[in-house]
Amino acid sequence: MNFLPDSAFKVLEILERSESPISGETISNELGITRSAVWKHIKDLRLMGYDIFSSQKEGYKLTRTSNKLLPYEIHKKLKTQFIGKNIRYLENTPSTIWIGKQMCSEGDVAKMHGMVIIAEEQTGGVGRMGRAWVSPSGGIWLTIVLKPRVPIDHIFMITMAGSIAVARAIRKEFDIGALIKWPNDIFIGNKKVAGLLLELAAESDTVHYCLLGIGIDVNVPLNQFSPALQKDITSISAEVGHEVDRASFLARILKEFENHFLLIESGEYETIIREWKSLSCTLENRVQIRTLKNSFEGEAIDIDEFGALIIRKDNGKLERVIAGDCYHQ
Ligand code: BTN
Repeated sequence: MNFLPDSAFKVLEILERSESPISGETISNELGITRSAVWKHIKDLRLMGYDIFSSQKEGYKLTRTSNKLLPYEIHKKLKTQFIGKNIRYLENTPSTIWIGKQMCSEGDVAKMHGMVIIAEEQTGGVGRMGRAWVSPSGGIWLTIVLKPRVPIDHIFMITMAGSIAVARAIRKEFDIGALIKWPNDIFIGNKKVAGLLLELAAESDTVHYCLLGIGIDVNVPLNQFSPALQKDITSISAEVGHEVDRASFLARILKEFENHFLLIESGEYETIIREWKSLSCTLENRVQIRTLKNSFEGEAIDIDEFGALIIRKDNGKLERVIAGDCYHQ
């Protein structure tokens, strides 16, 4: 089930407000709906993961909130102006990026600016360089739809804003020293916890829309991943030792992203680059770079105004890398 009528959420609001059990009759009177409609909404809310106690004598009581990443739960905590005001929630989909592309090709992109598409689980998640992205339930798998007023040669900064937002949110919410590994991976220690991907629809120098895909291993048990992956990745729950509240975490990411996105739209590129650098675990490190064409080693010394990594090779020559894989040594 993906969507519930507003009246189901009105029932939920009443249950959330009430400290003691409340009868179906009281709820039906308050909302002006029948008792059987109340019962149906209770059934649907349970399907959405809410634990609701019921007894003929006492009535209904909410005993545990849903641990799904439901728009209702995110909106309770969201403090943004436009990012995530409109959320599309899917239990299961091949890829939220793919859904975003479909929606943008069929609808008015300007009206979708800031929309967030969330999936509880992705069956065909995509990562950088066309790799598969394993996305079982418990993670945060989302795509932000944007129609940015940013010149095309600075569009990559949107991914930088996303990386900064995820790293800052992890730091603030869980007090963990997350860092950004070039180009746009989030690391805790030497393990990857999140990855970002930007898809662009543009013609000459006009950007029609951007889709910023963000994948974070939040409450995903690490044994859901192959043994080969397990040694290189971590999850937030593995780091803190318990499951965490994804809705609060996501609300914080979206707020951080919006703040940084607005800086980019107002041309404050230097601020973004400075912040990205201060969160980088790649700079000043010895790295190996693998691009489609070649592979080499050196020291990562800087990132330029176009997001390219500057490497000082062992022979002293500087190399500029715009796309590729970067391995820390
Ligand atoms: C990477 O390779 O590090 C980038 C991974 C991006 C994964 C996210 S999950 C939500 C969105 N949907 C996808 O299919 N991919 C991105």
